[in-house]
Amino acid sequence: VFAGLTPKAPDSLLSLIGAYRRDPRAEKIDLGVGVFRDDAGATPVLDCVKAAEQLLLNSQSTKAYLGPEGDFGFLDLLKPIIFGDLVSHEVFAVQTPGGTGAVRLACELLQAAKPDLRVFIGAPTWPNHTQILDQLGLETVTFRHYDQRAQRLCFDEMMATLETAGAGDVVLLHGCCHNPSGADYSLEQWAAIAELVGRKGLVPLIDLAYQGLGLGLDEDAAGARLVLAAAQDGLLAYSCDKNFGLYRERVGALYTLTRDAAALDVAASNIRALARTNWSMPPDHGAAVVRVVLESEALTALWRSELEAMRARVADLRQRLAAAVPLLAPLGGQHGLFGLLPLSPAQVAQLREDHGIYMAGSGRINLAGLTASNIDTFARALNACLQG
Ligand code: LMR
Repeated sequence: VFAGLTPKAPDSLLSLIGAYRRDPRAEKIDLGVGVFRDDAGATPVLDCVKAAEQLLLNSQSTKAYLGPEGDFGFLDLLKPIIFGDLVSHEVFAVQTPGGTGAVRLACELLQAAKPDLRVFIGAPTWPNHTQILDQLGLETVTFRHYDQRAQRLCFDEMMATLETAGAGDVVLLHGCCHNPSGADYSLEQWAAIAELVGRKGLVPLIDLAYQGLGLGLDEDAAGARLVLAAAQDGLLAYSCDKNFGLYRERVGALYTLTRDAAALDVAASNIRALARTNWSMPPDHGAAVVRVVLESEALTALWRSELEAMRARVADLRQRLAAAVPLLAPLGGQHGLFGLLPLSPAQVAQLREDHGIYMAGSGRINLAGLTASNIDTFARALNACLQG
């Protein structure tokens, strides 16, 4: 039966992990997959997570199933952190395997609700967004989010494209720390998007995977809150993989919002049914850890301070790199883990071959991979590459 398959190229971002590992050079630099790293290049387990795991180890008395929605405490405790005082909508939440599970579930739900809807999507975006939409066969309309050469947001182009959307069409937005560009909308721009979404009856699907790693927890959710407040219906795909450092535990959630309580019950029944056929019930451990942290004032305070330390480190590296490479000055005004450098695929390959510098083929770097001991080497190599 497998003879009928056509080969698929390996995911280019994930294959960087293996390529970096196999490179014998001691001075190699890993700026690939988006994980936080400390100045020693490590991705340590947060202290608040270790403490919560200890509490769980001592207190958890069963591994029996939780049910299709997952951990209700986890979902409820995250709500005020994500939505603040947004209370205009009815909300249904389910736990998902990572943010990817949430995006996939949201897209399947939207497709079931309105098979002919169009999904407006920025370019560039996280490659898995496009892969999920393509695999489902959803119609997409692309707008330019970021001009990589000129290193600037293409806000007017985006708004002009969104003006062509119709009621019930979906717009997929990155809540903060845009992946791959780091180029986020200002609050004024978010307000303009919100006005358009409300006026045209669009459905925002917001991917919020880096809350707290841009400007701060509330600041990073402010745009999403504005847009959702203006919408009749909306969806928010959330990930705790980065802001709790729980990557391999795959901790995500999908929040479905509507002003129509009757429609929510039907949507919830569809979400449960879709989750059942995809993964039946979500994994427990990572979400339980988040719940235990958020149930405790002391552990929540510890989490906030650890998150702030991660945020501050990445922001500092961003400023240092922008200062050291004059042609990358716009990096300094962007947010989160990523920057999209104005490099061709050939230049990206050359940096890998000549200097052991690993970044996504698109020219995306994970700033957290920079350290006190490699940032100068990286800046020198980049200056030579950009000027040469
Ligand atoms: C990334 O973009 O590096 C992360 O979101 C990891 C992933 O799954 O792609």
